Amino acid sequence: MPGVNIAIIGSGVVGSAFLKQLANIKPQEISYNVVLLTTSKKALVSSDYSPLNLSSYDSALKASSTAGYSVDQIIAFLKKSPLPSIVVDNTSNESIAKSYPTIIKNGISVATPNKKAFSSDIKLWNDIFDVAGKNGNGLVYHEASVAAGLPLISPLKELVATGDKVEKIEGIFSGTLSYIFNEFSTISPNDKKFSDVVKVAKELGYTEPDPRDDLNGLDVARKVTILARISGLEVQSPTSFPVESLIAKELESVKSGDEYLARLPEFDSDVAKLKQSAAAENKVLRFIGKVDIPNNSVSVEIAKYDYSHPFAALKGSDNVISIKTKRYPNPIIIQGAGAGADVTAAGVLGDVFKIAQRIAK
Ligand SMILES: NC(=O)c1ccc[n+]([C@@H]2O[C@H](COP(=O)([O-])OP(=O)(O)OC[C@H]3O[C@@H](n4cnc5c(N)ncnc54)[C@H](OP(=O)(O)O)[C@@H]3O)[C@@H](O)[C@H]2O)c1
Repeated sequence: MPGVNIAIIGSGVVGSAFLKQLANIKPQEISYNVVLLTTSKKALVSSDYSPLNLSSYDSALKASSTAGYSVDQIIAFLKKSPLPSIVVDNTSNESIAKSYPTIIKNGISVATPNKKAFSSDIKLWNDIFDVAGKNGNGLVYHEASVAAGLPLISPLKELVATGDKVEKIEGIFSGTLSYIFNEFSTISPNDKKFSDVVKVAKELGYTEPDPRDDLNGLDVARKVTILARISGLEVQSPTSFPVESLIAKELESVKSGDEYLARLPEFDSDVAKLKQSAAAENKVLRFIGKVDIPNNSVSVEIAKYDYSHPFAALKGSDNVISIKTKRYPNPIIIQGAGAGADVTAAGVLGDVFKIAQRIAK
């Protein structure tokens, strides 16, 4: 059976779910052999390229005396692989992301949920996609870099590749901010305070340890940067367009997340006014990312939506994305969980399958 050799970087939330899913598939046409698994501290390496035993990787990794592999070591190891190889980057590490051009120029493919490579400076994007798949270089797939495993990046790339023209993409791309606004601003008006909703979101584990890392809008800005670039806009960086922060100026520099939460009620009345003015127009507030191709604009902002709009009825922490194209003037709507170990890992595994179908020998 043809096969691929896989090196996995990271066995955290997504990495461990990915390993579990990979261990449980029953390959029919292609064999998927994990020959290297590394964290920043430790590594498991199969020096003869025979598959590692995934059922016991956790204890084997803990017991391993091999230090974590650097990208250079991974490339050197995979260059001698008897089968075509794939690096699965399950980290959020920026310097690993910066090494993708080198990885793929060495004929090694990349599958990753790490959005750093695709949403940083445009130079890195060009350095990757100018060479990916050409002249024996590796391929790059990153479905889970936006909206986790939801089918978004692949279908969007396919629309563009088949000659459709994207006109507008609008979406709720943060599970955390989806939850906060779905609770705060509802079709049946409520008198919930913004600060209380943020506190509950933190208690439920939806926010980063310091909620300002969600509320500053940068994560959403990175995701719309990726979608805008796929759609044909040359976005220089995630800070090169307007991003509305939900953090009051006075609270930007407070020292800790706890202090931020303690002072948040001081600003409840400002957000309450916004919510009331939306409700007066039969609208709700949502925190969205927007790409408008004809107007060459990208933004991240609080927007108002009619009660009848699909974004208004959103529940829980779902993502929702609306894509309007020349062929689809009535937008395509994609909705579902946009975070979580299993759905994200499934997006990465789907990428591995797609790469393997193209390169396996
Ligand atoms: N969690 C989600 O729901 C979700 C959703 C969509 C996308 N993502 C993306 O998925 C990626 C992984 O997220 P996660 O939640 O799984 O993160 P995580 O739990 O923090 O795990 C990160 C893993 O990467 C390893 N790592 C970090 N730096 C490394 C380095 N320089 N060399 C080798 N290993 C390194 C860590 O090992 P050490 O512990 O040894 O440092 C750890 O095993 C991120 O890019 C994230 O944005 C996550």
